[in-house]
Amino acid sequence: MAERDGRPIGFVQLLDAAAEPTRYWGDVSAGVWAIDIWIGAEGDRGRGDGMRMLRAAVRRCVEHHGATEVLVDPLAANVRAHRFYRRAGFVPVGPRRFGGDDCLVHRYTPGS
Ligand SMILES: CC(C)(COP(=O)(O)OP(=O)(O)OC[C@H]1O[C@@H](n2cnc3c(N)ncnc32)[C@H](O)[C@@H]1OP(=O)(O)O)[C@@H](O)C(=O)NCCC(=O)NCCS
Repeated sequence: MAERDGRPIGFVQLLDAAAEPTRYWGDVSAGVWAIDIWIGAEGDRGRGDGMRMLRAAVRRCVEHHGATEVLVDPLAANVRAHRFYRRAGFVPVGPRRFGGDDCLVHRYTPGS
């Protein structure tokens, strides 16, 4: 949970994609992790907190969990989120449909 001045503003979730029971990411190798990130209120966005959350989450995936890659699944139409992830070193991998959602998967590879 992310807080600003003691107030919860958003969350970030780290997911071991190969191990989590719903198999949301399908059949992936050990070492593949995924991140979900959300800041709830429009007024709390665009203040740099999301980037701090994302960088901390990626660092934790890599340094604590030994992730060899980190995936995110923004909606294909969410071009602002694409920019956000690319600024943090993620690269687009390709389109993918999750449930009813058209997404554009991005990947971060440590050391790249
Ligand atoms: C994406 C998100 C986590 C970024 O956190 P943030 O604190 O707003 O981001 P920062 O202040 O660190 O960086 C600003 C950048 O975030 C992105 N951003 C800001 N508001 C956004 C919004 N409403 N939707 C999507 N991306 C947004 C943009 O890339 C923005 O840069 P820009 O102004 O040049 O377009 C946050 O805006 C959010 O939760 N948005 C709505 C939900 C969402 O799209 N989540 C991603 C799902 S994969």
